[in-house]
Amino acid sequence: MYNETDFDNIDIAAEPPTEEPDRQFYFMAKCRVWVREFEKKNSRRPCFFTQTFGCQMNARDSEKLTAILEQAGFLQAKTEEADFVIYNTCTVRENANNKVYGHLGLLNAYKKKNPHMKIALCGCMMQEPTAVSKIKQRYSFVDLIFGTHNIYKFAELLAVSLNSDTMVVDIWEDTDRIVEELPAKRKYRFKSGVNIMFGCNNFCSYCIVPYVRGRERSRKPEDIIKEIRFLASDGVKEVMLLGQNVNSYGKNLTDPLTFAELLEKVEQIDGIERIRFMTSHPKDLSDDLIAVMRRSKKICNHLHLPLQSGSSRILSMMNRRYDKEHYLNLAEKVKKAIPDLAITTDIIVGFPGETEEDFLETMDVVKKVRFDSAFTFLYSKRTGTPAASMDGQIPEQIAKERFDRLLKEVQAIAAEQADLLVGKTLPVLAEEINRQDDSLLTGRLSNNSVVHFAGTKEMIGTIQNVYLKEAKGFYYIGSLQ
Ligand code: SAH
Ligand code: SF4
Ligand code: F3S
Repeated sequence: MYNETDFDNIDIAAEPPTEEPDRQFYFMAKCRVWVREFEKKNSRRPCFFTQTFGCQMNARDSEKLTAILEQAGFLQAKTEEADFVIYNTCTVRENANNKVYGHLGLLNAYKKKNPHMKIALCGCMMQEPTAVSKIKQRYSFVDLIFGTHNIYKFAELLAVSLNSDTMVVDIWEDTDRIVEELPAKRKYRFKSGVNIMFGCNNFCSYCIVPYVRGRERSRKPEDIIKEIRFLASDGVKEVMLLGQNVNSYGKNLTDPLTFAELLEKVEQIDGIERIRFMTSHPKDLSDDLIAVMRRSKKICNHLHLPLQSGSSRILSMMNRRYDKEHYLNLAEKVKKAIPDLAITTDIIVGFPGETEEDFLETMDVVKKVRFDSAFTFLYSKRTGTPAASMDGQIPEQIAKERFDRLLKEVQAIAAEQADLLVGKTLPVLAEEINRQDDSLLTGRLSNNSVVHFAGTKEMIGTIQNVYLKEAKGFYYIGSLQ
């Protein structure tokens, strides 16, 4: 296993192993030699900076990149003025791409000042050929580009890039493999994301994710359990099981297992006190899952259930494979089964062909379900997706106007929902020192709401009973009980 590997005893003069993850351990040893030589020449260790865009999957991937860089001997820098800068990119909406291009300009200026500097790009945006060719042409100062399917090869790519003066590009179109046993450096010592599956098979018509993350692959339950046991032994109390559609977990395994069955196994792991998961697709949410959530003592009172649109006509054009009625029934069913459950959602405004009536259907669902919080997005055209070539693209001004109305409604309801818990004392996992006021801690309720309360840094990573004094829209002010 990785944690037991002695990199300095690997013979890097020999041919690299062909088996994974041994091959990556070999290249890690090579990177360590490079770092030692750098240190000798420059009288300091090289430093690195990682920047993550996008979702929780990318955040978890970045923890793996960080672990590899640290094992190689790099020190973590606080800013982008570092010797190795890696951006883990997202391409789900156009503005995610624009952010990357914006940052690249800045990096070029830093690189001119630091001749050692290497710049790497990875993640979902790199799976788009148009983005990669633009980078090759206009941002030729980038040193390393790789995609989502070969991220497990990062140690190897790093070793190649550190020893090369030209741009290294390695992008795979797809993969069916999952490499286990690679290291990860957690951002929080007491909570961790855990991938249970990769990729997506749903092809919602607006969405680029299936094209950049490939086909759905589930990890074997024994590998997931082994990882969570290890995390628990390393101080983790909360796990977030990650997948684009966790409700279809296990379908492609040799011994199929449902997501509900997997949750029951995770529940039994000692040391784990909170279990979260995302994302649930409404078309696949089973009664078994609801029953497991209801019975469980560890699964949090939170369900993220993306609606996308309240109009059955638009949902069908989105290829979501449920309609308004199904969603409303489902929301009612889960709320009835699990009374304190918070339901949150994602909504897209301005999908091609969306009329005022369609939009009002979305508003209607928002009012009926009363989401505890909602991420609202302006539709963003993604080249290559079916929706990009649909008739009836909505002018920005109209979409923006609907977006503002939706946001107002969503926020008003979320604030009313938050008020319902004021006056109660509930368990809060203390997560960090408050960023604005260091006499306060910031933590989360089981339902995922944020709470600020006076406490000491020793409490970080522990669950405390907190009295909720006041709700401030989307967070609470509380006090320790
Ligand atoms: N797998 C998850 C979502 C992953 S992407 C699911 O099915 O729910 C996260 C969110 O981004 C989506 O729920 C959707 O609301 C939004 N999104 C995806 N593609 C988009 C696009 N082209 N324009 C605007 N929002 C988009
Ligand atoms: Fe995208 Fe739909 Fe897959 Fe979610 S389920 S990642 S929205 S295609
Ligand atoms: Fe973005 Fe890729 Fe996640 S496109 S939302 S980082 S799966």
